[in-house]
Amino acid sequence: MNLYEKGLIDRLIKDGCLPEKEYADLIRGRDNEAAKVLADHAVGIRKKIFGDAVYTRGLIEISSICKNNCLYCGIRRDNRNADRYRLSREEILACADEGWDLGFRTFVLQGGEDPFFTDEVLCDIVAGIKKSHPDCAVTLSMGERSRGSYLALFEAGADRYLLRHETADREHYAMLHPAEMSFDNRLRCLNDLKEIGYQVGCGFMVGSPGQTPETLAKDLKLIETFRPAMCGIGPFIPHHDTQFRDEKAGTVELTLFLLSVIRLIHPKVLLPATTALGTIDPRGREKGILAGANVVMPNLSPVGVRKKYELYDNKICTGEESAQCRGCLETRIGSVGYRLVVDRGDAPDYIRK
Ligand code: SAM
Ligand code: FES
Repeated sequence: MNLYEKGLIDRLIKDGCLPEKEYADLIRGRDNEAAKVLADHAVGIRKKIFGDAVYTRGLIEISSICKNNCLYCGIRRDNRNADRYRLSREEILACADEGWDLGFRTFVLQGGEDPFFTDEVLCDIVAGIKKSHPDCAVTLSMGERSRGSYLALFEAGADRYLLRHETADREHYAMLHPAEMSFDNRLRCLNDLKEIGYQVGCGFMVGSPGQTPETLAKDLKLIETFRPAMCGIGPFIPHHDTQFRDEKAGTVELTLFLLSVIRLIHPKVLLPATTALGTIDPRGREKGILAGANVVMPNLSPVGVRKKYELYDNKICTGEESAQCRGCLETRIGSVGYRLVVDRGDAPDYIRK
C-alpha cells in the first residue's frame, strides 16, 4: 500500500465516502495490507451496530421459470437444457412452516420472472405466510414488476424486496442483458420499492464480464447515494449453458474487499455472505463474515428442486435438507466467533409505514 492508497483508506474510514474516481483508484491499487486494514475497521463498525449477531434468512426458490434472458444466468429463458419447476402455494407454505420450526424469522421468496406468479397469486402466498407466522418478515426477490404490483404485494404483507441493480454503469448493463431489458427500468423499480416503504436490497455480481474498477466505483456511489437497507454482492460464476461459459469467475479476494468497503460506506446495511461466495471457496461465507458481512441465507427449498435452480455451475447446498443447512451454517458461523440469531433481522431504525 503506498501513501496515496493509505490516504484514500484513511478518508474512507473517516468520512464513509470517496469521490468516484478515488473508489476506482482504491480498487485498482488494493493489496493484502489494504484489505486487512479495511476488514478490521469494517468488523469493528459492524460489531458496534450488530454485536456478534448474524441474521439468517430462509431462502425458498419458488420457480426456475423465467421470461427474461439475462446473459449470465443459468435459468435464462433461452436455456433449453434447464430443468424447470414451479412450487405450489402449499409447497411454499410448507417450506415456511418448516423454516419457522428451525428458527427462521425471515423468508425470502425468490424466483425467475415467472408469469404464473400474478399479483393475485403472489399476494395470496405472502398473506398465507403472514397469517401462519405473523411475526416473520417476508422478502420477495421476483424481479422487475410494475409499481402497482409492488404496492399490492406490500399491502399483502411483504416487508422487503431484493433486486440487484447488477451494475450501475449503463453500458455495462447493456453488455450483461438483452436489448429488451433496461437499466432505467431497473432503477425505476428500485425507486418505486423504496418510495412504497419496502426495505430494499440492491447489489451486483463481482467479476461479471466487462466489469472494471470504474464500473465498480459507480456501484459504490450508487450504494452511497441510494442507501439500500440490504446489499447482495457475490462473485459471478459462469454457467455452462450461457454465452459467458468461458469467462473467468469473480474472485474471493475482490468480493471480500468490496464487502469491507460497503460496510464502511453504509455501516447499518444488511450484507449477506452469499451462497456464490461459499461456492468458489469452501470457507467463503465465514470469510465474508470476517470482512464485514452480517447475514446468511441458507436454502429452505425442497431438496428435490434445488439442483434445478442452477444460476451458475457447482452451486453448493443442493443436496442437504433444510435442517442440515441451518445446522451447518450455525457451526460455520460459530467457528469464526459469531452466532446465528432467531430474529427477523430488520434494518436498524426501520419503521414500517
Ligand atoms: N429474478 C429475480 C431477479 O432478477 O432479481 C431473482 C432471481 S436472479 C437469478 C438472482 C440473482 O442471481 C441475480 O440478481 C444475479 O445477480 C444472480 N446471478 C445470476 N446468474 C449468476 C451467475 N452466473 N453467477 C453469480 N450470480 C448470478
Ligand atoms: Fe431470469 Fe435469471 S434470467 S432469473
